[in-house]
Amino acid sequence: MIEEKVIIEDLQGSVTIKSAPVNQNGKKVYLESYGCAMNFSDSEIVASILTKEGYETINKPEKADLVFINTCSIRDKAEQTIRNRLKHYKGLKRQYNKNMVVGILGCMAERLKDQLLEEEKLVDIVAGPDSYRDLPNLINSIEGGQKAVNVLLSREETYADISPVKLGENGVSSFLSIMRGCDNMCSFCVVPFTRGRERSRNPETIVKEAQELFDNGFREVTLLGQNVDSYRWNITKKGEIKDKDQETVSFAQLMEKVALVNPKLRVRFSTSHPKDMTDDVLHMIAKHKNICDFIHLPVQSGSSNVLKKMNRGYTREWYLQRIDAIRRIIPNSSISTDIISGFCGETEEEHQETLSLIKEVKFDFSFMYKYSERPKTLAERKYEDDVPEELKSSRLSEIITLQKEQEKELNKRFSGQIKEVLVEGPSKKDPKEWRGRLSENTVVIFKNNDFKPGQYIKVKITECGTAMLKGEVIS
Ligand code: SAH
Ligand code: SF4
Ligand code: F3S
Repeated sequence: MIEEKVIIEDLQGSVTIKSAPVNQNGKKVYLESYGCAMNFSDSEIVASILTKEGYETINKPEKADLVFINTCSIRDKAEQTIRNRLKHYKGLKRQYNKNMVVGILGCMAERLKDQLLEEEKLVDIVAGPDSYRDLPNLINSIEGGQKAVNVLLSREETYADISPVKLGENGVSSFLSIMRGCDNMCSFCVVPFTRGRERSRNPETIVKEAQELFDNGFREVTLLGQNVDSYRWNITKKGEIKDKDQETVSFAQLMEKVALVNPKLRVRFSTSHPKDMTDDVLHMIAKHKNICDFIHLPVQSGSSNVLKKMNRGYTREWYLQRIDAIRRIIPNSSISTDIISGFCGETEEEHQETLSLIKEVKFDFSFMYKYSERPKTLAERKYEDDVPEELKSSRLSEIITLQKEQEKELNKRFSGQIKEVLVEGPSKKDPKEWRGRLSENTVVIFKNNDFKPGQYIKVKITECGTAMLKGEVIS
């Protein structure tokens, strides 16, 4: 197939030049993504499927024949954002293209199914995360003004054979999906309902995609899964080998395979689950310089009692023991986390335990949320969402204030150090300044000196702020 260059833009507004087939069908698609990295990665699979069918991916919704919104259901607020976007699209449709087709993809599609069509008259297509291969059929089936829904979840689908079309990335870092779904059933979480059962992707296709990304100039991949430590190929949940003639691959071994693609390819992963993160994963990080010294290990709460109600499968002590293991095996590793404030029945004492855990661990970064009850989850069925909204908010503020204070202190450790930085491109604030990242994931700002995105440079850290560092380029 002959290729030509088109420009694709994502929500964040970054622009990359990408290839698209010439034999287009004349239809233009606009893709908008919300939620976690997995959704952004899925949108690239959707773009790939539609590009193969002759659709052109564009960056201006006004000009689109089809608009797909890839949605998130993790908290009620995430769903409200989508409902507001639909109001916006109602206006766009009226103003620019009365025949514009609007499709809802992702987790909200899976959670609400046909109900979405009843509640949101604008929506023509509802497609869950495992039904993207069916999108061309769904689009064809609505031509007579019908509506189309496919929300079947699969036990096998990993889109392993599909090369994602890179949307709006910086051309340096990319997500790389290694597994889908989640079997964990944390009591607060909607993901097992929207993403289905856990399944791992064929390791050969993962390594091949990593190699292709490297050959196309990418220098950093983040291996993605809801629970990457559960990655296993040809091994059953009980640890038995499925097919003796085939190779078995654990998560640690997969990381090594990707790390060996090239020493200049940085490898990250997200997300680890504290109950499953084993020492062999930590030893593998320590073994390979290009596996980044950075671990995202969501704790959710510092109270063992709350953790039990959350069905997380570990205690405060277990979590702290995992942190000790990280510090022992990878002494320079940065650690980040996720925290939920105001879970069902959370007492003041239990909230204080979260604050004390933050003080004890000293996280380099944290995502912090107020508990939002999700329909059908264990917590919704079993516990009362009884912490008043104002109390959830004030506890969250206390958590954020403490975390930010600590981040600032922690970042000071980099002062005066000479660090390797992977150049990403111009900084958003001032194009004369450029940005890059440490292995520890912290962003560094420095003066541009004809650098190229994807280049490795040495920077002496001169200023340490809360969210980023500044430095002078050494070489
Ligand atoms: N699979 C990952 C996280 C997926 S969701 C893991 O297990 O760590 C990302 C984060 O959203 C969670 O870590 C949690 O902190 C938050 N979250 C999930 N459900 C939530 C809810 N109902 N209310 C508030 N925050 C929630
Ligand atoms: Fe949700 Fe828990 Fe699975 Fe993470 S591990 S996606 S929080 S159920
Ligand atoms: Fe949201 Fe679904 Fe991800 S609920 S956080 S988009 S898996």
